Amino acid sequence: MTTASLEPIETATVDELRALQLGRLRWSVRHAYENVPHYRRVLDAAGVHPDDIRELSDLSALPFTTKDDLRANYPFGMFAVPRETVVRVHASSGTTGRPAVVGYTRDDLDLWAAVVARSIRAAGGRPGDLLHNAYGYGLFTGGLGLHAGAERLGCTVVPVSGGMTERQVLLIRDLRPDIISATPSYTLALIEEMERQGVDPRSTSLRVGIFGAEPWTDEMRREIEERLGIDAVDIYGLSEVIGPGVAQECVETKDGPHVWEDHFYPEVVDPVTGAVLPDGEEGELVFTSLTKQAMPVIRYRTRDLTRLLPGTARPMRRMARITGRTDDMIILRGVNLFPTQIEELLLATAELAPHFQCVLTREGPLDALTVRVERREGVLARTAVSAAGRLRASIKNSVGVTVAVEVVSPGEIERSTGKVRRIVDERPRPAASG
Ligand code: DLL
Repeated sequence: MTTASLEPIETATVDELRALQLGRLRWSVRHAYENVPHYRRVLDAAGVHPDDIRELSDLSALPFTTKDDLRANYPFGMFAVPRETVVRVHASSGTTGRPAVVGYTRDDLDLWAAVVARSIRAAGGRPGDLLHNAYGYGLFTGGLGLHAGAERLGCTVVPVSGGMTERQVLLIRDLRPDIISATPSYTLALIEEMERQGVDPRSTSLRVGIFGAEPWTDEMRREIEERLGIDAVDIYGLSEVIGPGVAQECVETKDGPHVWEDHFYPEVVDPVTGAVLPDGEEGELVFTSLTKQAMPVIRYRTRDLTRLLPGTARPMRRMARITGRTDDMIILRGVNLFPTQIEELLLATAELAPHFQCVLTREGPLDALTVRVERREGVLARTAVSAAGRLRASIKNSVGVTVAVEVVSPGEIERSTGKVRRIVDERPRPAASG
């Protein structure tokens, strides 16, 4: 990659980046304060004013924004522009209750396409490449987000969306895409379907995969890279901030996504106290939008746990792989556990397939966890059971909790066409009080 094809900000110094951020931050906070009653109310209540922001660190005096704030102002109450100038809405995923509705002006869509184009380029995509986009189209931001960015970069987009897996394999064989974008879990389902059809997954035209929308591990990266014969890179984002393209990993370094900090200012805070943590420490990722018009967000709590790391291939800081969401944390006899920890250990066990679920049940007063996992195709049930014993021991060793491991036959665990469901909660619901 020649630096000539990068945007100027991608080769700027950190000082230049910070100066740009400060100017934009002051604009964004003022924009939110002047146009969104919610922000005016909570800033006034906290005794802070947009003029108080003189340095980037002054941001920490501002109150957080949470998903509940978005729900309380459902559907359009967080918009900072008249609804008539909002040209698109999306909604965040979430299976229960009101979704969080997010809106975009024409300029916001333009910005979004630009950061996704930048992301695809960092992933190794080039103008003229053909991109098979298997993220879902609709209210979910994955499909349309990748779509617009790929067009902006000058790619040819195949808007397949998720599902109809058999046909996707046909399209990959016939249209010969260079790039695939999908969730890592759906990519596994595609690989399996190729194998079922007798297509060697390593023989396809694919060169790069842009994977995200759910937590995944370096072990999963290796699994997908080896089976599909591609480079697999991580894309991160969330609807409330813009969608995919908030952060992107560079293919040449594969050392975690660079946050496109010229538009989305990151902080990591202690999830309990809310105190800002120094770079390098793990906590909850928080974002402030710097340039968005329709729905600015000030200190939005993502619930994603990660660390901020210094820039490498770009001046922007990187984020470490997301360990998990605070909502997906399993607490077993006082020990915190995330499905990604299971994924890491599971993929080191050759006899077991990368398809698993964490099933939570209650035994008396205590919660219990069963890791339900498939044996790999061609592995004898007996061999898989002894591998399960080793997995159980390695979970006990490295996480410090006792779990059960149940091995099932290949294909028994539901396949996702989008975001995978790792946690199956079979615990009795607490009786409603009062
Ligand atoms: O998942 C946006 C997206 C689409 C990102 C396509 C990447 C690719 P939401 O549906 O609002 O938006 O879900 C956002 O998904 O807070 C994380 O918990 C999780 N997530 C997204 N990307 C990653 C990633 C889209 N690379 C939520 N690693 C976020 C881990 C991710 N988790």
